Amino acid sequence: MEFISHRMVRIKPSPTLEISARAAKLKALGNDVIGLAAGEPDFNTPQHIIDAATKAMTEGKTKYTAVEGTVALRRAVAKKFAEENNIHYEPAQIIVGDGAKHVIFNAFFATLNPGDEVIIPAPFWVSYPDMVELAEGTPVIVRSRAEDSLKLTPESLEENITPRTKWVILNSPNNPSGMVYEKQELEALAGVLRRFPHVHILSDDIYEHLVYDGVKFHTLVQVAPDLKERILTVNGVSKTYAMTGWRIGYGAGPHALIEAMTIIQSQSTSNANSIAQEAAVAALEGPQDFLVEWKKVYAERRDKAFEILKAIPGLTCIKPQGAFYIYPSCAALMGKQTPSGDTITSDTDLATYLLEAVGVAVVPGVAFGLSPAFRVSYAMDTDLLLEACHRISQAIQVLR
Ligand SMILES: Cc1ncc(COP(=O)(O)O)c(C=O)c1O
Repeated sequence: MEFISHRMVRIKPSPTLEISARAAKLKALGNDVIGLAAGEPDFNTPQHIIDAATKAMTEGKTKYTAVEGTVALRRAVAKKFAEENNIHYEPAQIIVGDGAKHVIFNAFFATLNPGDEVIIPAPFWVSYPDMVELAEGTPVIVRSRAEDSLKLTPESLEENITPRTKWVILNSPNNPSGMVYEKQELEALAGVLRRFPHVHILSDDIYEHLVYDGVKFHTLVQVAPDLKERILTVNGVSKTYAMTGWRIGYGAGPHALIEAMTIIQSQSTSNANSIAQEAAVAALEGPQDFLVEWKKVYAERRDKAFEILKAIPGLTCIKPQGAFYIYPSCAALMGKQTPSGDTITSDTDLATYLLEAVGVAVVPGVAFGLSPAFRVSYAMDTDLLLEACHRISQAIQVLR
C-alpha cells in the first residue's frame, strides 16, 4: 500500500517558491546571487498597519473569529468594493481567507466535480492549474498570443467553452505578463459569457492597485453587473500593502458559493489569523497615500529594467502596465550555445544558465504555461535590479 495519495501525482510544488528557495540556498553558500524570482513587494508593511496589529494583540483580539472573517473586516471589504469599484456586496457575500490563494483554493474545492473544466488563459499564475487538479477538475489552458498583448480574446474564450466548463479565470493586472485588460476588452469577454450561463468567472484582482501610466483598473462585475451572480471577485492585501506574510485575502460572490467555501474553511483552517485581520482593516480603511510613492518607484524600476531587457538581442518584451513583472519572450535564443558548450533548448535551460553563469534567478515561462519566456520581478532594490538586468544582458550576448 502506498503512503502518499494518488492526488499528489497530479500536482507539483510551486515553481516560483522553489526557484526562490534555490537562489536563497546558493546565496547562503556564499554565491553572488540576485533573485528576480519572488512575487512580493520589497517594501515593509506600513507602520500604521503594524500598529493596528500590536493594538489588536494588546486588546486581546487573539481568539478565534467567525470562520468567514470578522464583521469589521468584511464590512471594510464591502466598503472598499463600493468606494473603489462601485460594486455592492453585503458582508454575507464576502469571505476572508489565508491569502487570495486560499480563497481561490476553497472556491475550486467547493465547486469542482471530477471532469469539470476550468479555462485558464496562459500565461497564468502558477498555482491555478495545480489547484484545479487537486480539486479533481480539468485545467483547460488557453495560450494567448503576443499580437493580442498576451490576453484572452473573445474568440479563443468561446472556442474553449464546453458543456463541462465551470469556471473561466481572469487575472488583471496579470502575473506574469503585467498586462491589464481594458474596459472594452472585458465587455467583449462578457458578451461571450452572457451566451453561456453555465460558466462562472473567477476574477483575480490581487494586483488591482499596481497599475501605471494612468491606466485605469476595471473588474468584470463593474463592467458587466448583470453577470454578478456568476462571478467570484478575489482580492487581498498581500501585494498592495506589502503584506504577503500576513496571509489575508478575500473573495466576494454569490451567497451560496461563499457559504460552501465557508464550510470547507470551517473544516480545514478555520478563521484567518485574528491579528492579521485587524491589520487588514487598518490597511483598507487607513491612509492610502504611501501607495502613490510606491507606484512611482515601481514604475521607474519597470521603465529602467524594460529599457535594458528590450535592448537585448534575442529577447522580445511587451511593456507591462501593471503588477511588478516583465515577461520577455526568449524564442529567438532557442538552439543557441553557452560558452561551456551547452545548448539552450528551453526556457528552463536559459533560467538555469542565468543562475549558474551570472547568478541571476528568474522564473522560466514553462511555470506560467507560455514558453519560451521568463519572468523578471522588479519589486526589488533598484540598483540590484539594474545590476541583474545588465548581467542577463551580458550572459545572453555571449550565447552563440
Ligand atoms: C495572480 C495571483 N493571485 C493570487 C496570489 C496569491 O496572493 P496571496 O498572497 O494573497 O495568497 C498571487 C501571489 O503571487 C498572484 O500572483
